[in-house]
Amino acid sequence: MKTVRLHDKEFEIFIDENEINNIISQIANQINDSKIEKPLFLAILNGSFLFAADLIRKINVPDTEISFLKLSSYVGTSSKGSVDELIGLSKNIEGRNVIVLEDIIDTGITLEKIMRLIKKEKVRSIRVATLLFKPNSYQKNFNIDYIGKSIENDFVVGYGLDYNEKGRNLKKIYKLKN
Ligand code: IMP
Ligand code: MG
Repeated sequence: MKTVRLHDKEFEIFIDENEINNIISQIANQINDSKIEKPLFLAILNGSFLFAADLIRKINVPDTEISFLKLSSYVGTSSKGSVDELIGLSKNIEGRNVIVLEDIIDTGITLEKIMRLIKKEKVRSIRVATLLFKPNSYQKNFNIDYIGKSIENDFVVGYGLDYNEKGRNLKKIYKLKN
């Protein structure tokens, strides 16, 4: 499939399966070579489910664990406005070496919320791994330890990433056609 149509928009191939695999191997190698002990991967749903599944199978650090969390952001009916909640953090992560797995970091606003919520859990360390990163859009100062690929400010879909919930099942990553 050279182009795909999702809702009202047309997307063209940007990163194929082979390149995705190479990007993930390179992140896995860096983590495997690091001195991290008993890492707890925390995959941020929904977007990172495929990235997490493929990355974790390349990790050979002893006592590796994975957990998932979903960040729910909604506007409440009270005057308080926006509320952030962690759904699915059923596990006690206190004292753990956490590696956050994100599909894409754009402005960094989502990452900021995640960091704030995780820091409350008294973890031992936090590292961040993201498949894709938009450096020209990033507004925060958190260090991103593992970056798969830096991209322009294009809108991309596929391999877990969605356009209004469509396109997550695509094997390749596509970008919006101009
Ligand atoms: P941020 O809070 O601006 O860093 O955006 C992060 C979230 O926005 C990601 O976890 C994605 O869900 C979504 N997002 C940002 N850029 C894209 C994109 O190009 N395609 C699909 N989703 C995106
Ligand atoms: Mg999304």
